[in-house]
Amino acid sequence: MIIQGEINAPGDKSISHRAFMLASLARGTSTIRGALDSQDVRSTRTALIALGASITPQGDLWVIEGGALTEPQQVLDAGNSGTTARLLSGILAGIPGMAILTGDSSLIRRPMTRVIEPLSAMGASFLARSGGRLPLAVRGGDLKGITYTLPVPSAQVKSAVLLAGLNAAGRTRVKETLPSRDHTERMLAFFGATLGQEEGFISLKGPQELSSRDIRVPGDPSSAAFPAVWAACTPGSELLIRGVCLNPTRTALLAVLERMGAEIAIENTQLSAGEPVGDILIRGAELKGTIIEGAEIPGLIDEIPILAVAASLARGRTTIRDARELRVKETDRIQALVQGFAALGAEVTEREDGLIIEGPLRLRPGAVLTHLDHRIAMAFHILSRALDTPTICICLFPLPVPCIPQGLRPCLLEWAGAAGLPLENSLCFL
Ligand code: S3P
Repeated sequence: MIIQGEINAPGDKSISHRAFMLASLARGTSTIRGALDSQDVRSTRTALIALGASITPQGDLWVIEGGALTEPQQVLDAGNSGTTARLLSGILAGIPGMAILTGDSSLIRRPMTRVIEPLSAMGASFLARSGGRLPLAVRGGDLKGITYTLPVPSAQVKSAVLLAGLNAAGRTRVKETLPSRDHTERMLAFFGATLGQEEGFISLKGPQELSSRDIRVPGDPSSAAFPAVWAACTPGSELLIRGVCLNPTRTALLAVLERMGAEIAIENTQLSAGEPVGDILIRGAELKGTIIEGAEIPGLIDEIPILAVAASLARGRTTIRDARELRVKETDRIQALVQGFAALGAEVTEREDGLIIEGPLRLRPGAVLTHLDHRIAMAFHILSRALDTPTICICLFPLPVPCIPQGLRPCLLEWAGAAGLPLENSLCFL
């Protein structure tokens, strides 16, 4: 189906988490405009309030009184959000006292050792479930700076170490083998912190205090990716997505779509709170397959589910490799994609670190299990929208059953029943 028009991207999730965190660490009153109000960001807000920050909505902005975070009285719940759990661990490591952190059934399966190791080396103590999983108890305070090279490129781990470094004595130095998103570094500087670059290390001398700021959150390129791919893979489509964060650590998807044949133009660029922001114009085309690997992966790690959909509609082979990290996201996204396409009657090749897709896939109606993973749900939703043939794709989505529109329920029940799928938490896309 051709799409034409103009839309705004919702607030960037990564930047929204960081805005609430840094405003809560900074002394004085900060304001945030344009923050994403999703469940993940709500988990961050609730945890920061439990640590003593005052966070109140005022019309379309949030007002934050920060600068006095203390030991929480209750268990902190990061819900489904890895960014909340990992970045908060860095903050908790710097707060004298003890905190317990947990999450939902997906998050408690995800690896936390990657933050426990460096933060322990800085002087925090952790007790975690076997395999370094949540729930975990943190005893913070009395930190010292370390020099740390990240074993996997991860903005969450880098950020946890830098946030702990704010409250550590001496210099904290972090190096990554491949660059990951740098929102924490940019926002720390925006909130008045002094950061340095030396021999490939990002360095920060602690302790440092942040100053309150007024911040506007730009649109989320990872959310924009879904309509962007829909437009890109449909000749005749022309879509303008306004106000998107164009931080070069987040725009690899656009380069891949161009390589696959779509026409992309950037307009109206400006700087907002240290982040480049602009409008993206996408013109659709018959896409062709490509190779996505190596240094490109960290810049589009969250976009791989929707890129797999683009590949399924494109002509020729698409190879995605070096993306092993997908196996430890909200769900194992490599497996979820392979199973999703299988449910629609198509075979794609699973590799330990990626996928091979021979497009265009021949798809038939089917029910796709999303494993409560929003990016898998959205990717297959776009697939069902973009296909011109009357294909039905049902995604089991993390929404309570009462949210499902009445008219869709009988159809959903019939399909899910026929496929032997659980009916709880389901949404049907037609
Ligand atoms: C994020 C970093 C990435 C990304 C996640 C958000 C962040 O995770 O996949 O959705 O906000 O720092 P990793 O740090 O695990 O790569």
